[in-house]
Amino acid sequence: MEKFESRKKRNLDTQQERAAWMNEHDKNEGGKPAVGKLIVDGLEIELPLVVGTEGERGLDISKLRAETGLVTLDPGYVNTGSTTSAITYLNGEQGKLFYRGYAIERLAAECDFVEVAYLLIYGELPDAETLEHFRLTLRRHTLLHEDMRLFYDGFPFDAHPMATLSSAVGALSTFYQDALNPADKEQVDLTIIRLLAKLPTIAAYAHKKSVGHPYIYPSNELSYCENFLRMMFALPTEPYEIDPDFVNALNLLLIVHADHEQNCSTSTVRMVGSSDSNLFASISAGISALWGPLHGGANEACVSMLEMIMADGGNVKKYVDMAKDKDNNFRLMGFGHRVYKNFDPRAKIIEGACKKILQKQNTNDPVFDIAQQLEEVALKDEYFIERKLYPNVDFYSGVIYRALGIPMPMFTAMFAIGRLPGWIAHWREMHASPKKRIARPRQIYVGATQREFVPLEDR
Ligand code: CMC
Repeated sequence: MEKFESRKKRNLDTQQERAAWMNEHDKNEGGKPAVGKLIVDGLEIELPLVVGTEGERGLDISKLRAETGLVTLDPGYVNTGSTTSAITYLNGEQGKLFYRGYAIERLAAECDFVEVAYLLIYGELPDAETLEHFRLTLRRHTLLHEDMRLFYDGFPFDAHPMATLSSAVGALSTFYQDALNPADKEQVDLTIIRLLAKLPTIAAYAHKKSVGHPYIYPSNELSYCENFLRMMFALPTEPYEIDPDFVNALNLLLIVHADHEQNCSTSTVRMVGSSDSNLFASISAGISALWGPLHGGANEACVSMLEMIMADGGNVKKYVDMAKDKDNNFRLMGFGHRVYKNFDPRAKIIEGACKKILQKQNTNDPVFDIAQQLEEVALKDEYFIERKLYPNVDFYSGVIYRALGIPMPMFTAMFAIGRLPGWIAHWREMHASPKKRIARPRQIYVGATQREFVPLEDR
């Protein structure tokens, strides 16, 4: 602990400086690399200590089973680091989030989503020429194969967009069979572009299908977010004016969702990708993982909850009490986080943007009022204070989506568009690692021991 404190105080700026300092200081008296010790049945096992550039420390147990026959047990992977990663750093205690070393607040203020996507995937902020080339390349790949549109005819009009997204992204692999090899850099780069360019089109078509409107083809003269808004809301029968405030809000929302290290969907993408499944298949699996209400689906669940509270007379205290009641399964959606135990910096950025867009539109959304009242009551409540439960990114994102006119079933699809660069970055990082192995956890078997088979007629 002392070492960690002094390391923090030293104000070491670059990752290289920090890594070098820590290599020097995380050593035992004899100058050997630091280790943790585990004593099992009297046997002392040394576990190497791995130290990250921000001072996080982990015990490397990768040889544990080979050397001792033991495995570790960690339901929900609460204590398990599945990988080292240089993409995103988040500090749950301090409410910090950095993409590739840059604070989320700064990126949200300075960049658009495409620039952040490039940073996450390729590791550095692009120079002007590189960024322009990246934007142009994305614009050229926004169209879906015409046969892809036939898939939409087969889905019911009320299909959940996440089901459509996951199926359509999986189906892209059937159209681009020439680019499925995870080991071929050119193929992977092309697939990255195709995915980033086409996911907004896939999502907008899902919406158009649900309302019975004609699909609007992408327009490649528009920016990423402008194009998406047009595909969502334009009609062939009348002109559509793109509101720059909406474009800014959308960029912001996509940026704050763009990566969040080893969350459920990202871990899914890595796990599927670890078997050398192609990138389309891996991302399709990530979309399915994101759909759940405990993960990306929370934004939809949160607005449903706020609407329910409003319809029930707006008594937020009643719902806070319900969430505290152990005999009731109800939880405050948009509250709590596995990692953030102080505040979710994404929620702060979004809350501010939310106020701004509602003010600009001169809209008084009662759902936003309920959200603010709920936050106030919950944050003063001992139950939430004790458990360090704060509003997360999904608490306010739905309110902005509503203000942008995006219907509730599409909220999680918006999250998926935002998270795509993060998923890709992790898939790419995993494949670039010399330590890559197929993800294959162990278990402790607790079922029946060997027993005699009983033929059907004797059971
Ligand atoms: N409302 C009421 N109680 C809660 C809530 C909540 N939203 N979240 C956690 N708790 C309680 C939980 O009952 C438990 O209490 P106790 O210790 O008495 O058993 C304690 O807090 C710890 O909860 P947990 O379920 O062990 O925490 P976790 O890390 O496994 O789960 C979570 C994290 C986000 C799934 C959970 O907080 C939750 O279900 N929140 C609501 C859904 C939500 O908003 N999800 C979006 C997450 S952010 C976007 C994303 O990254 O996908």
